[in-house]
Amino acid sequence: MANRVLGIETSCDDTGVAIYDTEKGLLAHALYSQIETHQAYGGVVPELAARDHIRKVIPLVDAVLSKAQCRSETIDAVAYTSGPGLAGALLAGSAVAKGLAFSWDVPTIGVHHMEGHMLAPMLEDEKPEFPFVALLVSGGHTLLAHVKGVGDYSILGQTLDDAVGEAFDKTAKILGLGYPGGPLISKAAENGNQDRFRFPRPMIDRPGMDFSFSGLKTFALNTVEKELIDEQTISDIAYAFQDAAVDTLLIKSKRALIETGCKSLVVAGGVGANLRLREQLRLMTHELKRNVFYPRIEFCTDNGAMIAYAGAQRLHQSTTDLSFQVKARWSLEDLASI
Ligand code: KG4
Ligand code: ZN
Repeated sequence: MANRVLGIETSCDDTGVAIYDTEKGLLAHALYSQIETHQAYGGVVPELAARDHIRKVIPLVDAVLSKAQCRSETIDAVAYTSGPGLAGALLAGSAVAKGLAFSWDVPTIGVHHMEGHMLAPMLEDEKPEFPFVALLVSGGHTLLAHVKGVGDYSILGQTLDDAVGEAFDKTAKILGLGYPGGPLISKAAENGNQDRFRFPRPMIDRPGMDFSFSGLKTFALNTVEKELIDEQTISDIAYAFQDAAVDTLLIKSKRALIETGCKSLVVAGGVGANLRLREQLRLMTHELKRNVFYPRIEFCTDNGAMIAYAGAQRLHQSTTDLSFQVKARWSLEDLASI
């Protein structure tokens, strides 16, 4: 029997809503990005994020219902991000999800945001098969996981300090490029001189698959202080930073593929939109005779489709209990396998 799940994502600064049908696939999705709200502050302001989610969720629900040409009576469950993320932002989405579920008389499913990212490639025609290695690279997380099935995750390595997206954002701020930093660094790096600066590759000499990115930001700061800053220098630093960040992700992902023997690498999270990272991973996996899978670019960053999909995989865990608790911190390894 087909089931229709409405998914709501509000863990950070994107309000995402989507409808996933277990037989027909993704029916509709809509996204509202709060970038303009936070740009003036150079980063996400949690209180503003929560208020903006409250304003936008219901209009987006109406939009996806009408895009999918389906009535609310045909929705079988409401999935929402219950963590990890900003507590106020998560509370906004969770409260709306519970309210909708109560008025539609359907159950809810609390979804782990990173599981959503990790399963996002399953929304594409060409999907990876289990087991695979997942490289999760976002503004809040950087980790490599061995994925044996939905909910069966072992963390192979993770960042000991900043997430890689956070390092992109902080370095962009140091370079005066604005927010969010990832796409801006990437753009500036296009005109960068490859030979002018060389950033260190943190942790690559140590065994294991943990990461550390806070040193790159410090290196960027020290370089900025030493140099005369013009547009070319900004591009050269952006190039060297991106090169070091991508190289580090590449080396550890290669290690993970070799150690687990997995045939596929799945890349998810906002930094997965980085074209330089995609190109380098393509070359590395080709050389190892492995495959690399990505969600489409718009589903690399936060979105409702991945939450609707992950919720659909966990329908058996849905609940009619209207109480809820958000989890600002939540390990992937604590999830139940299905
Ligand atoms: O997954 P996501 O949308 O939100 C979180 O859950 O954190 O990831 C956002 C992060 C930001 O740090 C942003 O700078 C980074 O992804 N990002 C990129 C690119 N596009 C977004 N980083 C590098 N290159 C990009 N093209
Ligand atoms: Zn995310």
